[in-house]
Amino acid sequence: MADRKKTAEEMAKEQKEISISEFFEKNKHLLGFDNPTKALLMCAKEAVDNALDACQEAGIVPDIVIKVRQLKDENYRISIQDNGPGVVKEQIPKVFGKLLYGSKFHTLKQNRGQQGIGISACVLYSQLTTGANTRVWSKTEKDKKTHYYELQINTRKNEPEIMKEEMQEPTFEHGTKIEMDVSGRYRKWVEDYLKQTSIANPFAKISYTAPDGTRTTFPRSVNELPKTAKEMNPHPYGIEFGIIQRMLVGTQSRSLVAFLTNEFSSVGNQTAKEICKVAKLDSNMKPADLGREHIEKVLTAIQKVKIQRPPTDCLSPIGKESLEESLKKEFPTAEFVISRSRDPDVYRGFPFQIEIGIVYGGNLKEETIELMRIANRVPLLYQAGACATTEAVKDTDWKRYGLNQQSNALPVGKMILIVHMASVWVPFVSESKEAIAPYPEIVKEMKLAIQDAGRELSRYLSGKRRVGEQKRRILIFERYSTEVAEALSNMTGKEKNDIEKKLKSFIGERVKINEQGEVEGIEGAKDEGEKEAKMPQSTEKKEKPKKEEQQTLKAKKPKEESEEEE
Ligand SMILES: Nc1ncnc2c1ncn2[C@@H]1O[C@H](COP(=O)(O)OP(=O)(O)OP(=O)(O)O)[C@@H](O)[C@H]1O
Ligand SMILES: [Mg+2]
Repeated sequence: MADRKKTAEEMAKEQKEISISEFFEKNKHLLGFDNPTKALLMCAKEAVDNALDACQEAGIVPDIVIKVRQLKDENYRISIQDNGPGVVKEQIPKVFGKLLYGSKFHTLKQNRGQQGIGISACVLYSQLTTGANTRVWSKTEKDKKTHYYELQINTRKNEPEIMKEEMQEPTFEHGTKIEMDVSGRYRKWVEDYLKQTSIANPFAKISYTAPDGTRTTFPRSVNELPKTAKEMNPHPYGIEFGIIQRMLVGTQSRSLVAFLTNEFSSVGNQTAKEICKVAKLDSNMKPADLGREHIEKVLTAIQKVKIQRPPTDCLSPIGKESLEESLKKEFPTAEFVISRSRDPDVYRGFPFQIEIGIVYGGNLKEETIELMRIANRVPLLYQAGACATTEAVKDTDWKRYGLNQQSNALPVGKMILIVHMASVWVPFVSESKEAIAPYPEIVKEMKLAIQDAGRELSRYLSGKRRVGEQKRRILIFERYSTEVAEALSNMTGKEKNDIEKKLKSFIGERVKINEQGEVEGIEGAKDEGEKEAKMPQSTEKKEKPKKEEQQTLKAKKPKEESEEEE
């Protein structure tokens, strides 16, 4: 028998509560601070996300200024200033100096932030790596002066420590500025992140000064803010046992039917009664009386009853037009830009919506496509392999749409593919919010959106091929016109050059390629062109039905069967 060294009582004395700050101090990699390059980017990202959230919530068109300056070797000073509503004096220390403190965790509406960790994690990283205080300036519209704070986090208690506090003469009308000294390594990724942020937030102006003094401005491409996302209740589809149990404890509703109507979105009185009927439960039953088996019955009934889709006003998608506009602004040389927006769907009771953008051709190289992953308007730059977007793109058969692809790989082509998930709650795989968890419902919606955009791309590419082919035919006509002219000249005794000129002008007059890439003028040529254009599609095993057919299909079959292509 091994030597017994400790008793349970002795071991019990070693048990201690662990504060969340201490935990993340040891596990900074979980928050995305696992290497110096990424750490610097994280600080910029968290502050910019907060600035955009605050501006959008306050109805202010954002104007954000970011500066990164090298202090020494691998130490940088990063400052982010916004023109948002500011943070009220009493809240400043907690907002920046306490982990798991924020205004967004308990609300069900689309925000960039969710967890209440983002900016305080940066403050923690700053003090861990440089020991410096984080400086914060905040001024609300009502404040006469700017509130200035120097902060640290007491990691044992997970509480802010105010190192300095004073009022200063204002230098801006309203907003927040945060300045941190961090250990980091500078790479162009900050610019890449800001460029992608600008695409996903076309209403924001972002001005950036890099450590070498280079200034870049990402201007707005639209001048208005998107519609404000509204707060919602959870949707019944996908709701889980534990959640419904917790909701039943906290509810003010006096009956089951009232509980279902008041606490869930998209459930009216009729639907609530229907759920009770299918569950074979009394609609007047008190929520407190619902036990395990009742909850299970309600959950089963929810799956059987047709419930309206979730409201869309809790989401703030980029929008088809805005996304296209934004992509055209960022990629002016692109040959082809399109976007697609799916109708919202639900996972675990949370509505979400998928948007797709495709930028094709121009300066882009024929190589593995660039996949731009965006969640609630925030670009995701790491952990691509773990992300639902990557899974959906790899799972799509891109050969159908005219791109090369090895099995289970990203396709190859002159293309940037943007996949945006807008949701009231994005299921990130970790606290660092770098990849979207591949819930089947989410991957499926992404694939459907990609397929829709892919079909449009395929139409464009086959049109392009058609034009190329017809141009080649015209060249052949022109090449032979010299020989034909010579033969005709011999036969008729007329001047060869005149005949050739006439032949060429005849080809020019009769053969024109219109904007759709169709050859006009030569009989039969158009038909052949069409045949050719249809070829790749007719060899497809299963082509998506036309829109009108789709709608009838949808009415007849459940959504999964009618829409899933692969
Ligand atoms: N620039 C700002 N202007 C106004 N309020 C801000 C600003 N930055 C942060 N806040 C407030 O501070 C809170 C905490 O921010 P923090 O980034 O830590 O968490 P979050 O944004 O709620 O979630 P996440 O951890 O996902 O980023 C926010 O919820 C917001 O209410
Ligand atoms: Mg945040």
